[in-house]
Amino acid sequence: MVEFSLPKNSKVGVGRTYREPKGAKNVKSFRVYRWNPDDGKNPSVDTYEVDMDSCGPMVLDALIKIKDEIDATLTFRRSCREGVCGSCAMNIDGTNTLACTKFISEVKRDVRIYPLPHAPVIKDLVPDLSQLYSQYAAIEPWLKTDSSPPDKERLQFPDERKSLDGLYECILCFCCSTSCPSYWWNSDRYLGPASLLQAYRWIADSRDESAGDRLDELEDPFRLYRCHTIMNCTSACPKNLNPARAIGEIKKALVERK
Ligand code: SF4
Ligand code: SF4
Ligand code: FES
Repeated sequence: MVEFSLPKNSKVGVGRTYREPKGAKNVKSFRVYRWNPDDGKNPSVDTYEVDMDSCGPMVLDALIKIKDEIDATLTFRRSCREGVCGSCAMNIDGTNTLACTKFISEVKRDVRIYPLPHAPVIKDLVPDLSQLYSQYAAIEPWLKTDSSPPDKERLQFPDERKSLDGLYECILCFCCSTSCPSYWWNSDRYLGPASLLQAYRWIADSRDESAGDRLDELEDPFRLYRCHTIMNCTSACPKNLNPARAIGEIKKALVERK
């Protein structure tokens, strides 16, 4: 029987509030999702009041300040802090994005921070990306060739290289896949926009000699055709890429080869 309410242990409760430091005049509240697999409790949302006069401008700056100065148990991923590694992807103010490139000033109300949606949570803001990575591995994201290698590198004309623009910049943050309704409901069989954009990146590469095999692998009602052009993926991408267009190009290539 279909269950329309959340299981009891999924209900998100109200957590602790950490008041602003004494004398702070420029205070912003951060409402942050917390869940610890080891304490047996339901998830909750903690509120941290942060003195913005001693905080950097990005949401990641605030999270680091909270962890350093207020609550060392807060758990999240980050590395490059400049929009390159993709590890700080999370849901901020209702949108999947990168905490390190999201300005706090863009959020007028309290800043609400959740893990990427529809992915299992490991702890707090850390999602389990195992399935997304195994789907990425499934598209075999490397140059595949049958011909013998040239003496030096495999060359491309400038126009061939240009056809990879808008594809190679993907940082695998998975903001797109975790904002895609088709992926939410079919993530076990639909590859999702991030992996499909990567699949097209190799199909479009003039040096790759496996486009036919790659298209064969994708020609499947679930792996590719669960995309219904809803475009959430493209709106969510913090690198301004267009996974929906890449998916459209794969579909076009499949039609054209018939
Ligand atoms: S365009 Fe396709 S991949 Fe993008 S959100 Fe929509 S269904 Fe998902
Ligand atoms: S296409 Fe954009 S949103 Fe999707 S994984 Fe790549 S960089 Fe992230
Ligand atoms: S910390 Fe690397 S993208 Fe944000």
